[in-house]
Amino acid sequence: MKHNARKDAGGGVVGALAVPCVDIKLFVASLAFLTLFVALWQLQPYGSLMAAASPPCSLLLATTAAATESNTTDRLPSAANPASSHNTTTTTKSAPAVTALPVRLAREARPAPRPEDPNKRVLRPYGSAAALFVQMGAYRGGPRTFAVVGLASKPTHVFGTPYFKCEWLPNPTAASPAPPAVRTKTYKILPDWGYGRVYTTVVVNCTFPSNPNVGNAGGKLLVHAYYSTTSRRYERFVALEEAPGSYDEARFSPPFQYDYLYCGSSLYGDLSASRMREWMAYHAHFFGPRSHFVFHDAGGVSAEVRAVLDPWVRAGRLTVQDIRAQAEFDSYYYNQFLVVNDCLHRYRHAANWTFFFDVDEYLYLPNGHTLDQVLGKLSGYTQFTIDQNPMSTKLCVKDPGNNYSREWGFEKFVFRNAVTGVRRDRKYAIQARNAYATGVHMSQNVFGRSTHKTETLIRYYHYHNSINVLGEPCQEFVRRPVNGSRIKFDGVPYVYDDNMKRLAGKIKLFEKETIGSVHT
Ligand SMILES: *[C@@H]1O[C@H](CO)[C@@H](O)[C@H](O)[C@H]1NC(C)=O
Ligand SMILES: *[C@@H]1O[C@H](CO)[C@@H](O)[C@H](O)[C@H]1NC(C)=O
Ligand SMILES: *[C@@H]1O[C@H](CO)[C@@H](O)[C@H](O)[C@H]1NC(C)=O
Ligand SMILES: *[C@@H]1O[C@H](CO)[C@@H](O)[C@H](O)[C@H]1NC(C)=O
Ligand SMILES: *[C@@H]1O[C@H](CO)[C@@H](O)[C@H](O)[C@H]1NC(C)=O
Ligand SMILES: *[C@@H]1O[C@H](CO)[C@@H](O)[C@H](O)[C@H]1NC(C)=O
Repeated sequence: MKHNARKDAGGGVVGALAVPCVDIKLFVASLAFLTLFVALWQLQPYGSLMAAASPPCSLLLATTAAATESNTTDRLPSAANPASSHNTTTTTKSAPAVTALPVRLAREARPAPRPEDPNKRVLRPYGSAAALFVQMGAYRGGPRTFAVVGLASKPTHVFGTPYFKCEWLPNPTAASPAPPAVRTKTYKILPDWGYGRVYTTVVVNCTFPSNPNVGNAGGKLLVHAYYSTTSRRYERFVALEEAPGSYDEARFSPPFQYDYLYCGSSLYGDLSASRMREWMAYHAHFFGPRSHFVFHDAGGVSAEVRAVLDPWVRAGRLTVQDIRAQAEFDSYYYNQFLVVNDCLHRYRHAANWTFFFDVDEYLYLPNGHTLDQVLGKLSGYTQFTIDQNPMSTKLCVKDPGNNYSREWGFEKFVFRNAVTGVRRDRKYAIQARNAYATGVHMSQNVFGRSTHKTETLIRYYHYHNSINVLGEPCQEFVRRPVNGSRIKFDGVPYVYDDNMKRLAGKIKLFEKETIGSVHT
């Protein structure tokens, strides 16, 4: 609150320069104060910003106006919206009152309360239920573009008009001791598909006319988050800092560090360490050595899970980000939309292709092609979606010669749901450098074409619910069906599909060769 009070006061005072709003006597007084204010302001690090964003005189001391409000009940003055229009004459009392810091101006100028109108009701806000913006990450997306990824109050964005501005503050150099700040407009994307809750995910795109750090002296990206288009009130923060010499233009064009990057969604609940181990080994093999995995731990990475992941972290194949702090901010399912967008922008130029799917899903190439061949065929698209093979995670084969409890999940789940013609969730991959924001099942904010006709090239096996079963998942046993015959379980027809099972030997060997033996 202190912060806001200062900002409002600062804005109001600078606004006094607008002559038509006040009479001449007061203008002189204001000018005297302004001089004092400017002198004080020299001590502020981002003084130029504040002055530049100062509101017009109508904003003068909204709190004063609030205190002297008449019977106009349809315009409830509130600290949350100091720019709500009001009669500016009441503000004139304030200017001569200045003796102390401008920060305190609004409060000290408040006149003594008049006798109360018993019918005038006061609404007093206490606290603040959802932040205007919660930053998770800010990333350079290219030579002149940045993305700032975070959360924001969902009702504010649905019913209000909050918006953002970006500013680059260059570091001073010997050649240019006081470089001018560069400002730019932004646009925001709300990629939550309507799923947000108290908070929604916001991606702020700041694109400058040219690289604001072209001399590589470094600088800061500042964001101004405005409360609404009808108010000049805003929050200002440093979203990103670029150290001198750290800008590297080569990063934004191929070849990238990796061919393939995996962006995992939030991991939560009681995850089976066995299933996590199997997933990691399978996909480390599937994507090959020029790939990298990013997991987001929202409380799902227990000590057991950590133990199976650590060898891959040590091998440089996996990064586990601790996002447990997300629990403070109520949004859709452990803030999935936030996490995927952060990952998208964090690794936007790290790989040719970025994949988004879950840890109970296994990619599969049905026709014996390699992944490089398949993606070669899809390289003309920015995005493709992937169809699923839904698998039973309860039904297993009873075979006296085979101890199922020693088998890996994808080895023993061999019954594929044979119901066709129903719409099922898809997962996707994108060339992230052409994407501006993303979702859980696909991105709706990409530049370039998307295709969904991929079922003969790439699919995924979906072992729904298998990841949260800590003990033995097999619950029902049947004989192995012969000659493609179907069996019914819980009223659903299944066919035998051992495509994944046949890869298990190769994956186990790969795991052993890559990280040694693992015990779970
Ligand atoms: C407000 O006060 C004025 C004059 O005092 C009166 O004419 C008007 O009807 C009042 N309005 C309301 C909504 O009470
Ligand atoms: C403000 O109040 C004064 C005096 O009551 C009046 O003359 C003036 O028109 C009002 N201004 C606005 C913008 O309502
Ligand atoms: C990645 O992109 C580079 C440059 O466009 C290309 O040469 C390379 O073959 C691509 N790799 C894969 C696996 O698609
Ligand atoms: C199957 O394997 C499990 C775990 O290794 C073991 O406890 C169990 O005794 C085995 N059962 C048979 C019939 O061999
Ligand atoms: C921001 O938007 C522009 C224009 O749509 C786009 O070219 C740029 O890549 C975007 N930047 C980021 C970081 O998404
Ligand atoms: C399965 O099909 C083959 C050839 O189509 C046939 O020879 C065999 O008898 C069939 N087996 C059963 C158990 O129906």
